[in-house]
Formats: sequence, C-alpha cells, structure tokens
Amino acid sequence: MNSHSVQAGRTGHRAPLMVNKNRLWGSLRELALIGAYDDEATGLQGVNRLALTDEDAAARNLVTSWMKAAGLEVRVDRMGNIFGRRAGRRDDLAPVMTGSHIDSVATAGSFDGCLGVLGAIEVIRSLEENAVTTERPIEVAIFTEEEGVRFGTDMLGSAVAAGRLPLDYAYNLTDSSGRRLEDELERIGFKGEADVLTSPPHAYVECHIEQGPILTKEGFDVGVVTGVQAISWLKLVFTGQAAHAGATPTPLRVDAGLAAAQTIVHARELVDSGRYGELRATAGGLTVTPGLPNVIPGSAEIVFDIRHPETEQVSRAEAALAEYVKTLSATYPGLLVETSHMARTRDVPFDPRIQESIAHSAEALGYRYRRLISGAGHDAQEIAALCPTAMVFVRGEYDGISHNPREYSSPEACEQGVNVLARTLTTLANTTD
Ligand code: GLV
Ligand code: MN
Ligand code: MN
Repeated sequence: MNSHSVQAGRTGHRAPLMVNKNRLWGSLRELALIGAYDDEATGLQGVNRLALTDEDAAARNLVTSWMKAAGLEVRVDRMGNIFGRRAGRRDDLAPVMTGSHIDSVATAGSFDGCLGVLGAIEVIRSLEENAVTTERPIEVAIFTEEEGVRFGTDMLGSAVAAGRLPLDYAYNLTDSSGRRLEDELERIGFKGEADVLTSPPHAYVECHIEQGPILTKEGFDVGVVTGVQAISWLKLVFTGQAAHAGATPTPLRVDAGLAAAQTIVHARELVDSGRYGELRATAGGLTVTPGLPNVIPGSAEIVFDIRHPETEQVSRAEAALAEYVKTLSATYPGLLVETSHMARTRDVPFDPRIQESIAHSAEALGYRYRRLISGAGHDAQEIAALCPTAMVFVRGEYDGISHNPREYSSPEACEQGVNVLARTLTTLANTTD
C-alpha cells in the first residue's frame, strides 16, 4: 500500500496514470441529458432521474454500453446493481471495487453519484489506453436507488448487496403510486441473475462531489473522507379531526397540520439548543390532508431526516422529539401520532489504511487535501461492512450546494478527484498481501 507509482504492465515503465479530463467531462455532460428538465426555481437545467424510471433505464443502458466499450465484463445482480469487471493478472484475488450511483433526486445536478461512476469508467479507459495491467481485478459498481426518494430507503441497492437489508424487503417496497420495486426492476430489464450478496472485495474506494462548502472555502483540492454520519428517516403521521375552517371554534380544533408544523419548529429548537452538538434535522416534505383552504387538516405527515456524526446523538434527538409530540395532546385532545423509521443507518468510520492510501495519492499528485467527515449518505457506508473502504471528495462550487441544479464541480476539480481515484485504485489493485 505504500507504493505511489503505477505499474505499466506490458511496457515495464513506471509513469503516473492521469485521466482524460475532457473525456470525463464529456461523459458527465452526456449523462446529464437523460432526465434533464428546466428548473424554474434556478433557471438552470436540472436532472430528474429517479431510480428504476424510464430515465434511469436509459441512463443504465448508456453507462453499461460505456462500461462494455471500456472492456469491462458486465453483470447485473437480482437487485439491479450493475458490476463491470476488469481482469487482473491474478484473477484468484479479490477485486478492488469502486463506483457509486446514477439515480438522482427529482431536483438534482449532474455530479452526485455520476462522478463516482463515470470517474471509475474513466479510470478504466485510462488504464486500457496506457496498457496498464494490475495484479487484482478492478470492479466498477452502479448501485440501485441510492437516493431513496422513490422507494423510501436510501442506499438501498448497496445495503442489499452488503447483506444489511434482505432482498425481499427491497422487492416489496412501493413508490408513491404503489408500484413495487421488483416489478419496476423487471419492467426496465434490470432484474439480473447475479447473486445479490457481493463477495467481499479487497477494498472499496468511491469518488463523490463533497456536497458541502468545506474544501472550496478552505482552499483544498480534494478531500479524504473519514466516515459518514448517522442518518435517520423518521416518519410521523398525525391524525386529528378535519372540520370547517370558519365554523369550528379554536378550542375545539384538532388541527393535525398545525401539530406537524409545531413539531418541525421544535426539531429546529433542538438543533439550536446546542445540546446535541452537530445535529441536523430537516422535514423536507409536509403533507396535509385534505389540503383544502376551508378545511382544518385532519391528518398530516412529515418525514424527518436527522443526522449526526454520532449515532447516539440521533437517538437522543429522536427521544426528545417523541417527548415533545406527547405534550401536543394537551393542546389537541384526541390527536394521534404514529412514528416509524423509513431508513436508519449508524455512523460509519472509514478504514484508516484506505484513507492513508488516498492521502498518499493526493500528495504524490501534488494536490492539497484535508480529511473530513461526509454529511451525505453514500453507498460506501454500506460496502464498508464488507471490506476496508474510504472515499475521495471533489470540491464543489457555490458553497457546495447539492440536490439542486446549481450543484457544480469544475472539469479541473473532477479531474483531480478522479486522478486520485485512479492512483489509489491502481495502488490497491497491485497490493497482493
Ligand atoms: C444522499 O444523497 C443523502 O441523502 O445523503
Ligand atoms: Mn450520492
Ligand atoms: Mn444524493
């Protein structure tokens, strides 16, 4: 793991492997056309490519064709995860794996996940054109439904591949219109045959846009990711009493919408209290029913996204929210509140040796790097259960805004991150002990 140079197998000379910036950028731009839409809020073109939609299918077909053209042997597992394998000199050895996802949230930019997948393919293209062979195979993975916004559980494909969630659980998840995940996989032709439990790779390295402001603000080129914080998606369903908006006296109202709104405000108060350190809490959607101007909401639903670098602090914040919700029945007699988890992941520290390998690669390339924890969830946190894992972060512009069409990393920033990925993968793939 200490070697920083790339073995050029057939020619015997040693030279740093540098990826092709323009080719990488061209792939990112081309993929961004699939699911493109005009975003009114920003005036920009965004990407809407929810998992297992027609747009996702088109993206999968395009990217799979690129994998094959790059010489990868492609297989699809029963969860729709796609793997492309490049043989090593020693095919008996476990592969080094890299990858990410190409599904998006409904209001996305074009880097989240895509940079990790297309960056990985760019590494393979560069290895091929430089006739570089490695001892271990290298595998490029594309995981299904990383975002979780269509079927309600994030990092779903990688969680199933790593054995944390059963395939049956995933198959029976439904989207907002009641479509089952398994049926959608079949419909788009990506219910594969390969075993869904990935055999442990030698190591996993994922390249991803930072999605936050730190690298750019502090003047770093790339980030070495130390781990991912804990994430909880907590659903609260409030049931009150729908009634006439004008005729119902205030003391008689059981307004489920108002109770939900107060709970959202309370979550922010918990964050601002300072008692939970770096707690983050978001209620990205509030649905009130029946949703009419002259009817008091009879029910309301919110899903909290609660995050913290320490799992225990997420649990403490959830307990405090539960206590608060109990107090609401004093104001709203008869109010019912049901809570359930849609998804919940613990904080995941990344492997120090893989972090070190990434840091060495950045150093050897002359890039300024710092270590940082990830605020976003990633497939890497699931694969970390199978093998030593870490991530490379690429700096983003505009305060690192993401899950928004303004998300942007320059061609140079992408190139730097993928150069680090290339060097790290090649180093790891030449480690035989
Ligand atoms: C993944 O994009 C997340 O929500 O962190
Ligand atoms: Mn992502
Ligand atoms: Mn995302």
